[in-house]
Amino acid sequence: MRGLAGKVAVVTAASSGIGKGIAKVLASEGCKVHISSRDENKLRKSAEEIKKQTGRDVALSPCDLSKVDDVREMLSEVKKMSGNVDLLIINYGDPRVAPFLDITDEDWDSSINMFLKSTVTMAKSVIPEMISKGEGRVVFVTSLTTKQPLENFAISASLRAAVVSLSKVLSIEYAQKGLTFNSISQGYIMTPRLENIAKRNAEKANVSVEQAYEAIKQTIPAKRFGTPEEIGYLVSFLCSSDASYINGTNIQIDGGFVKFPF
Ligand SMILES: NC(=O)c1ccc[n+]([C@@H]2O[C@H](COP(=O)([O-])OP(=O)(O)OC[C@H]3O[C@@H](n4cnc5c(N)ncnc54)[C@H](OP(=O)(O)O)[C@@H]3O)[C@@H](O)[C@H]2O)c1
Repeated sequence: MRGLAGKVAVVTAASSGIGKGIAKVLASEGCKVHISSRDENKLRKSAEEIKKQTGRDVALSPCDLSKVDDVREMLSEVKKMSGNVDLLIINYGDPRVAPFLDITDEDWDSSINMFLKSTVTMAKSVIPEMISKGEGRVVFVTSLTTKQPLENFAISASLRAAVVSLSKVLSIEYAQKGLTFNSISQGYIMTPRLENIAKRNAEKANVSVEQAYEAIKQTIPAKRFGTPEEIGYLVSFLCSSDASYINGTNIQIDGGFVKFPF
């Protein structure tokens, strides 16, 4: 156990995949976990699954990260239901993946809302409470695209890079207040999103979905996909007091996918 029992943890985009994996690990560490995403039914299923596996109740609030008013409402519900936030884990929905000229102004607007405006709103809301308490952890869950920008990933690469830079600035400004801010750049993780990518690749290349998975795996030195729980273990470590000297970093967790050594 990492000494996280009783901490109030908010995990966004947590009705599925990586967010759900993080919420599960934090619940198993004894945190009071609060999850959010757009779809209330999916959130309920996620909360039930976590309860079944960890024995812990999970609170939930529907919230679309591309709508800043939703985010404000979610934060005020968290406060009413669970109190001040100790651990803020900002995970995101999937941005549009397309050639630059196919990305519309609306795509950019909703992604700017999700990655920038909502991130700023959440950070502004929790930082004063964390300062009063003298401790707090914020983890931004981004993507390998911050380390290795890819074709068709203009939104992901540019806006997530902004999140990583914001995290760095916050880590400098609040280091002496007992707060840490770190980001995670995950590679290929086995989630419904990856399943969709494999299906799309299979259709394009006229191969089976298994073959499409295999083709991606061959690009990863570990020759396997990560699990959502593995992201959760890294998050729970970053939230623990053992990690209190880790601040302002962007940590790769990708089975060796990104080859840049620094
Ligand atoms: N899996 C990978 O290999 C991988 C690699 C690099 C980066 N990522 C990134 O990691 C994040 C999570 O991906 P995942 O693989 O876990 O995908 P996933 O299984 O499809 O889960 C996506 C989650 O985001 C929520 N969501 C989507 N749009 C949202 C919005 N506007 N506001 C609030 N919640 C929203 C979804 O819930 P609702 O439908 O209920 O809203 C769901 O809980 C994404 O940003 C993805 O691009 C994933």
